[in-house]
Amino acid sequence: MAAVERSTNKKVKNKYKICVIGAGHVGLVAAACFAEMGHEVICVDNDKKRVDSLKKNILPFYEPDLEPLVEKGRKQGNLIFSLSLAEAVRKSEVIFIAVGTPPQADGSADLTSIGEVARVVAQNLNSYKLIVEKSTVPVQTGRNIKQTVIHYKKNSYSFDVASNPEFLREGKAIHDFFYPDRIIIGVESEKAEKILKDIYSPLSTKFIVTDVNTAEIIKHASNSFLATKISFINAISRICDLAGADVDKVAAAMGMDKRIGKDFLQAGIGYGGFCFPKDVEAFIYIAKKLGYDFDLLKEVKNINQTQRVNFVEKIKEQLWLLKDKNIAICGLSFKPDTDDMRFAPSIDIVNSLLKEGAALKVYDPQAKEEARKILGDTNRIKFVKSPYEAVRGCDCLCFLTEWEEFKELDFTKIKRLMSYPLIIDGRNMFDGTGLCKLGFDYIGIGKPKKIKAKVA
Ligand code: UDX
Repeated sequence: MAAVERSTNKKVKNKYKICVIGAGHVGLVAAACFAEMGHEVICVDNDKKRVDSLKKNILPFYEPDLEPLVEKGRKQGNLIFSLSLAEAVRKSEVIFIAVGTPPQADGSADLTSIGEVARVVAQNLNSYKLIVEKSTVPVQTGRNIKQTVIHYKKNSYSFDVASNPEFLREGKAIHDFFYPDRIIIGVESEKAEKILKDIYSPLSTKFIVTDVNTAEIIKHASNSFLATKISFINAISRICDLAGADVDKVAAAMGMDKRIGKDFLQAGIGYGGFCFPKDVEAFIYIAKKLGYDFDLLKEVKNINQTQRVNFVEKIKEQLWLLKDKNIAICGLSFKPDTDDMRFAPSIDIVNSLLKEGAALKVYDPQAKEEARKILGDTNRIKFVKSPYEAVRGCDCLCFLTEWEEFKELDFTKIKRLMSYPLIIDGRNMFDGTGLCKLGFDYIGIGKPKKIKAKVA
């Protein structure tokens, strides 16, 4: 609730009629936050079930603090959910496009939904409109939106296309929206710049005003750089594993250099989620299309993938053959505080373990239902209600997501319940020395092994 409470004094002077297209993570958060700031918001989605649920305050995904904000906007009457894109466009001055841009087989972003939206906006241009890209899109998408609107519009009303990429993180989305490090405004006119600055005026942050192409690249470059940082430290974790050094200490010392910074240097099983994997792919693709072969990013992707393979190897190193071994998995979502399973590293790890013939008991505080859809419900994978249920009779306990509640676990009880006390920590959450003292064998990522019952 903290982020919501802190945001309530952030009201706009000039209210805008805003349409947000897409009630996904970015769109729904933006819509609820714009309403909280005092704007009049219509949030449109073409999924009837989703819109009907939102009208009853049932959210399509878990995001801390979002539900009360949606409820408040709905009750106040300045947050409306609708299926009718045409009507919403006609009623609005500013249109934020926050539809999905999923990856295609060749790595490029699928921009079909954006193209479709641009056509409907053009056909419903009944006054000046500012069309703003909020979804992450490849550079030059703004140019294509503009051409599409010119192609389909039937009158002389003017319009602008702008890019205003969103940097919010799942699980911290409301906080990130109200307290951004900066707001990127890619525009072609002073009018568009003024409107966007007005909309965000209650937020005390820096505005970075650029052209549209530059704003589009800022988003891809930022996400790709963060992914690069993660893969860099994961590569260092491999060297640490080989040399018997401690990657967490390396990262902490590196991060103290202000030029490097401490964030995004947490080694583990790699990045997942709907942004980094897709954005790295799409950036490689668009760079190639423009004439640049982004080999660095290809290696970032490669390190990320092999980090998962390496994790399974760590289990095999300890348990040798996995056939009929009982393995407990704690954490499935791609990161804590979300039920999002998209491109979660756990998917590849669970599938590899199943392929090796292991029997799994899996637990996640929020992602159980999403995980069940992706991983299936076979007799070799059992979804359980608590970590203690997961570890009963198991030969190994793996942590794949660093949920806070795992830090409070009673490891004495866990040791009693397991048939062999082995922990493989994919997120370096725990103090291996402490666990080893309790009688566990502990393996982290790029950490010296803590083996109690070492075989000579
Ligand atoms: C990311 C960007 O941070 C955000 O700015 C953008 O708008 C959307 O993409 P998000 O996908 O929600 O946000 O998650 P983030 O917190 O950035 O983490 C991404 C992945 O990287 C997670 O799987 C996380 O576990 C992993 N990660 C992050 C690491 O493995 N190590 C780190 O040090 C940081």
